Amino acid sequence: MSGCGAKHLVLVGMMGAGKSSVGRVLARKLDRPLLDSDELIEQRTGRTVREIWMTDGEAEFRELETKTLVDALNDDEPSVVAAAGGVVLSAANRIALAESDAHVVWLLANVDVLIDRVKNGAHRPLLDDDPEAMLRAMHRDRDELYRDVADAIVSVDNRSVHDVAQAVLRCAG
Ligand code: S3P
Repeated sequence: MSGCGAKHLVLVGMMGAGKSSVGRVLARKLDRPLLDSDELIEQRTGRTVREIWMTDGEAEFRELETKTLVDALNDDEPSVVAAAGGVVLSAANRIALAESDAHVVWLLANVDVLIDRVKNGAHRPLLDDDPEAMLRAMHRDRDELYRDVADAIVSVDNRSVHDVAQAVLRCAG
């Protein structure tokens, strides 16, 4: 589903693309709740993303990520969803997005911009060792997956959070 008729507005994209900050602006403008995947996981479990990842492993974290996405998509109240960056890795999640009543916008960022932005990411254990190499690999591996699920693509390079939010609203219209 796409456009203004869709119930939920879902932002997808790489770590550092600005899903949470753009989502906050959009939620305010549209007077909708913001469902932020990582925040919801932390609220529900009472644990940080890092703690879950380090103690239980990535697979367990990904299950929580799926559950959070599916719950958000099934919510009756129209919302803005800031989906975690890894949500496109699972085929089940991609199908859930395609079949849901949601307009999915990919916040597309140049990888060099992302490298600069993700320096302070406590909730991003994937970037602990070599953030630059990891981001480049993720960008390469996920590009097609984001493209697959997106109803619209908005470039975030050289744009303020406010400008990106405006662009999302224009392409949702
Ligand atoms: C991840 C993205 C992070 C967080 C976790 C894994 C990923 O969320 O869920 O570190 O695999 O891309 P953000 O996209 O909000 O940074």
